[in-house]
Amino acid sequence: MLTLFDYNVSRVNFLLICLVPLMIILSIAFRTNVDNLHENDLIVEHSNKTSINYNLKFDPKLNGLRKYCSFLDDIEIGDEDTFNYCGYNLQLNKIIILIRHGDRGPLKNVRNLEKIPCNRTHLYEVNRLNDERTFGISTLLSKFIARSSVYNSSFLGAVLMSDGCTPGLLTKFGLSQHLKLGSLLNRVYRPKLNMDSDLPNLVKQIRINTTPYPRTIQSALAFLYGFFNETNNLNVFDLSSMNYHQFSSVYFCDYHNTHEYCFHNCTEMEELQKKIYNTFSYDHDKNFTKMIKQVENIIEPNNVSNPIGSYKRSIVSIFDTLNSFICHQEQLPCQQNTADDDNNKCIEMENVEQIFTFINDLGHKLMHSEDQHRISWMQSYGFLLNIIDTIKSTEKLSIFSGHDLTIHSLATVIGFVERNIPPYASRFMNPSSSSSSSSSSSINNEKLLRIIYNGNDVTETFPLCNSIVNDEQFNDDENCIQFDHQILIKLTSLENFIHTKFVEHYLFENC
Ligand SMILES: *[C@@H]1O[C@H](CO)[C@@H](O)[C@H](O)[C@H]1NC(C)=O
Ligand SMILES: *[C@@H]1O[C@H](CO)[C@@H](O)[C@H](O)[C@H]1NC(C)=O
Ligand SMILES: *[C@@H]1O[C@H](CO)[C@@H](O)[C@H](O)[C@H]1NC(C)=O
Ligand SMILES: *[C@@H]1O[C@H](CO)[C@@H](O)[C@H](O)[C@H]1NC(C)=O
Ligand SMILES: *[C@@H]1O[C@H](CO)[C@@H](O)[C@H](O)[C@H]1NC(C)=O
Ligand SMILES: *[C@@H]1O[C@H](CO)[C@@H](O)[C@H](O)[C@H]1NC(C)=O
Ligand SMILES: *[C@@H]1O[C@H](CO)[C@@H](O)[C@H](O)[C@H]1NC(C)=O
Repeated sequence: MLTLFDYNVSRVNFLLICLVPLMIILSIAFRTNVDNLHENDLIVEHSNKTSINYNLKFDPKLNGLRKYCSFLDDIEIGDEDTFNYCGYNLQLNKIIILIRHGDRGPLKNVRNLEKIPCNRTHLYEVNRLNDERTFGISTLLSKFIARSSVYNSSFLGAVLMSDGCTPGLLTKFGLSQHLKLGSLLNRVYRPKLNMDSDLPNLVKQIRINTTPYPRTIQSALAFLYGFFNETNNLNVFDLSSMNYHQFSSVYFCDYHNTHEYCFHNCTEMEELQKKIYNTFSYDHDKNFTKMIKQVENIIEPNNVSNPIGSYKRSIVSIFDTLNSFICHQEQLPCQQNTADDDNNKCIEMENVEQIFTFINDLGHKLMHSEDQHRISWMQSYGFLLNIIDTIKSTEKLSIFSGHDLTIHSLATVIGFVERNIPPYASRFMNPSSSSSSSSSSSINNEKLLRIIYNGNDVTETFPLCNSIVNDEQFNDDENCIQFDHQILIKLTSLENFIHTKFVEHYLFENC
């Protein structure tokens, strides 16, 4: 997330702001008190014979996978709340937040899809943890579902919430994640943002951007519903009366209604993408290849005539499918009973861990790949231009509701590289502020930004901030400014950086 601060703020506003701590970010922090529970409390019975044989919440080996699922009690405020803007005569002007949609059904069909309990919200388990905040989410969820079916839902992509598991559709768990995120960020940022209480003015202070997929629209609505919790009579379902923009691309690359920066017909970019996909290959590792074949055999839907081949999934897609079982705490699938029962193979947790490790290692390789950087710059440039415009706009809360791909590309260019697939309901915030005093002429009226990813302040990973001189505050020549332990980026530096770096990475003559 990016935040901007404006310097010319009245004293009164300034004081109000100081009453509440500022920060934005989605974080997925882990509770430390979970071991008070009895393990058996969380083991779910699935049939008269079996219960799931892994425990995501208690097995430290599975922390990475658990993080990916973003269980409600793992969604917590992190660094959003660590910087006292007021203490440095800064005013928080706005927050820009990029979210990944919440939990969804697997993108590709899978055998026994209907057996995945996609409607399991985990709210019941959380209530047992006596987590008051999360408890409030069940109320909010029922209200959200009731309201959304009352309002004309053509903007929900004409897709209502269903109890079952449908490929690519947001689940109730996914809704709950964003309701909780919205309500947590409300506590941290709403008071600092000093938003208008008058409905027509409030509406003008909000902007919603989504991709064309129902899951991103529904996630944005859930976030807003959690953030505003029906205050000010704001009807988040009436998107037609809000500043709502639907982008055509998952990268938010349309800029000023042109596709110029989406590089749709760029063959060089396609070639490069193919080259990157080739690094996903695991053919050289015979054992791994064999294991993947077995997994594919188990998860492919029954009605596919020539499964492997016509239905070949990428390794990321296989991971995605298996995670639908894991994140809904369902038993991993087994080969259907054929003629002889001895052949009744099941996917083991160990297989999922191997796949997860493979994807992590891949992420590590890509992190250092010049090709990956080049393509990320191409993909993100239009979005970066949109972000700069948003920073300069008067809106106080701007949401971009996107995908793991959106976050991954942006993280690559901003310097914070997400090694894994960004978890569901990931948040990337950019609170911006400006200075309100003349304590330093050099930053007067300068907009300053902070970047927070899933509760971690990652501003200092921004390439321009690497060399900041620690003991010299308010240095005119710096691109970044340090306030004790907090580094903020100057908007002008960010703009220069984007334009220079894009030109450096833009090597495609015909695009
Ligand atoms: C579950 O119980 C039913 C009836 O008792 C039985 O027919 C079925 O085979 C059992 N299922 C498993 C998986 O043991
Ligand atoms: C989830 O769906 C199943 C079957 O589709 C249904 O039996 C169950 O009651 C639903 N659970 C909730 C919490 O809605
Ligand atoms: C929403 O607002 C109600 C009424 O003010 C409050 O009781 C409830 O805790 C809020 N919910 C959340 C999740 O903040
Ligand atoms: C919802 O809105 C669409 C487009 O504005 C309209 O065609 C449709 O009739 C409306 N449906 C209801 C139930 O109001
Ligand atoms: C891409 O090129 C094809 C044929 O050259 C053209 O029909 C299509 O409109 C182009 N797409 C975009 C998004 O420019
Ligand atoms: C592959 O599996 C075989 C038999 O299970 C084992 O002996 C061999 O060491 C494995 N190879 C690798 C590279 O792990
Ligand atoms: C297989 O079944 C799914 C869901 O029942 C359906 O969407 C899909 O089109 C079917 N595929 C084939 C090849 O029949």
